[in-house]
Amino acid sequence: MRLQGKNALITGAGRGIGLAFAKAYVAEGARVAIADIDLARAQAAAADIGEAAVAVKMNVAEQASIDAGLSDAIAALGQIDVLINNAAIFTAAPFAEITRADYQRVFDINVAGTLFTMQAVASHMIDRGIKGRIINMASQAGRRGESLVAVYCASKAAVISLTQSAGLNLIQHGINVNAIAPGVVDGEHWDGVDAFFAKYEGKAPGQKKKEVGDAVPFGRMGTAEDLTGMAVFLASADAAYVVAQTYNVDGGNWMS
Ligand SMILES: NC(=O)c1ccc[n+]([C@@H]2O[C@H](COP(=O)([O-])OP(=O)(O)OC[C@H]3O[C@@H](n4cnc5c(N)ncnc54)[C@H](O)[C@@H]3O)[C@@H](O)[C@H]2O)c1
Repeated sequence: MRLQGKNALITGAGRGIGLAFAKAYVAEGARVAIADIDLARAQAAAADIGEAAVAVKMNVAEQASIDAGLSDAIAALGQIDVLINNAAIFTAAPFAEITRADYQRVFDINVAGTLFTMQAVASHMIDRGIKGRIINMASQAGRRGESLVAVYCASKAAVISLTQSAGLNLIQHGINVNAIAPGVVDGEHWDGVDAFFAKYEGKAPGQKKKEVGDAVPFGRMGTAEDLTGMAVFLASADAAYVVAQTYNVDGGNWMS
């Protein structure tokens, strides 16, 4: 029960990694607000978890929606002690085919969404004197570029940088900001990634996913549950002296 009495707002928690975080937090004694652009999915997830979870509609690409979703979460839970900035989208294209519209869409969600959701929740924490925690979802993609993945990689490099700057600034208020950089994690997200590689590398459906899983030093793709230990640790009392860091949780993938 390392998160007993804590309230967490988790963006993009209607499915995938965010949903696994919500379940792990509740198992540690927290209550969670499942914030997602897909309200029906968030509601189904909250109903599945039970009374410790509420669903709120939030599109992290729109300031009014961030503010409204945060307000709904505070109304339901009382206050927010932990934010996980998890909502993000993936995109891929050969460099010559990148469009400004796709760049804007990805940066509005992955970068501006992370920055301004952090800002809104940090302001709430500062106003109430809450010594809170913020966890951003980065990626191994933010550690280096990839031939077909320029825009997504750049967006996740920005998340690592924002974690450093926000972490250094907000610790004066007792708010710890850190990030998690997963490698390849099985789920609906990776089904979409696999489809991009099928299109651009001429692979059969499922082939890229098998290749990346086989290449992980641990021996397989990650699962959402492989990441929950780090997410609980970073929100717990044990991480009080951890500031502005991004932790790889990737079965050794980045090191290899
Ligand atoms: N799956 C992986 O292999 C992997 C690897 C590295 C990093 N990550 C990162 O981990 C996080 C979670 O990944 P996942 O695999 O669970 O992804 P996912 O695609 O399965 O889930 C993303 C969730 O975000 C929501 N969402 C999308 N746009 C939104 C918006 N504008 N506002 C609010 N919610 C929105 C979706 O509805 C969905 O529920 C992401 O930040 C992702 O970039 C994933």
